[in-house]
Amino acid sequence: MKIIAVMSPKGGIGKTTTSDSIAYMLGQEQGKSVLVIDGDPQGDTSKTFGRYEPEGIGMSELLEHHQNVGGRYRTTELIQSTEYDHIDIIPANGYLMQTDMNLLLKQEENQVTRLRDALAEVAVAYDYCVCDCGRLLDMVVINILLAAELVIAPVKVGGFENEAIHNLQEQVDDLREINPELRIKGLVTMRQKNKTSLEFEEWMKDSSGFDMFVTSVRRSIVAEKASMRMQPLPQFSKNCIVSQDYRNVVHELLRELEG
Ligand SMILES: Nc1ncnc2c1ncn2[C@@H]1O[C@H](COP(=O)(O)OP(=O)(O)O)[C@@H](O)[C@H]1O
Ligand SMILES: [Mg+2]
Repeated sequence: MKIIAVMSPKGGIGKTTTSDSIAYMLGQEQGKSVLVIDGDPQGDTSKTFGRYEPEGIGMSELLEHHQNVGGRYRTTELIQSTEYDHIDIIPANGYLMQTDMNLLLKQEENQVTRLRDALAEVAVAYDYCVCDCGRLLDMVVINILLAAELVIAPVKVGGFENEAIHNLQEQVDDLREINPELRIKGLVTMRQKNKTSLEFEEWMKDSSGFDMFVTSVRRSIVAEKASMRMQPLPQFSKNCIVSQDYRNVVHELLRELEG
């Protein structure tokens, strides 16, 4: 199972749209078996896949009450199917913010590797695990980043964005001390066709030193409509320009991770 995290310290930058679209396309179009993990207390990914219940069980139980740490749950008991073939999910719930605090207060070595340990149980059951993160580097997200082999970092054109990706790079460098496998790859999202955007994009791809996806994801109102309908974008509109771009991102991913 290859574990991919979508993370950026910026909000509203397309993290959830990216992770939902990639998960959906890997499962529905590429026939891979996919486990979606919702690491954001807002639960947007859980809502998109129709599995958000504020009082339900999910990520909090996985991180706090797994049998590995003396709790009552096994990983398989916290996985739910979705209405889409090949795509299962461990949803976020209303308690996930508190989970961050509870983990933070523990002084145990496994407090940051709990997700990694719990996912080992289903490593052969899935081809991919796609994790949506919130924008804070909290204990939930640290658990995700330490389990993952690749972090996709969406970036948008604008003054503070390169600073944000630099910060993320620094954070990832720190985490790499515990997870040496971790790589970070930037993805330009919400691309607009004006001079400033194009220059920034060129700089990101050619001279910033960051590993970037060749594909940039264009901006379109269709993505917002899909979010409002709480549907994965490629389900809402299979061939809109944003879906087309994510399809190319998935092809790049498959080439990179499967050769
Ligand atoms: N390529 C895009 N074009 C236009 N709107 C987009 C695009 N990608 C995402 N959006 C919209 O931007 C908003 C924030 O996206 P979202 O994926 O929820 O970001 P995040 O998870 O980083 O907060 C949503 O309303 C979403 O529909
Ligand atoms: Mg989000």
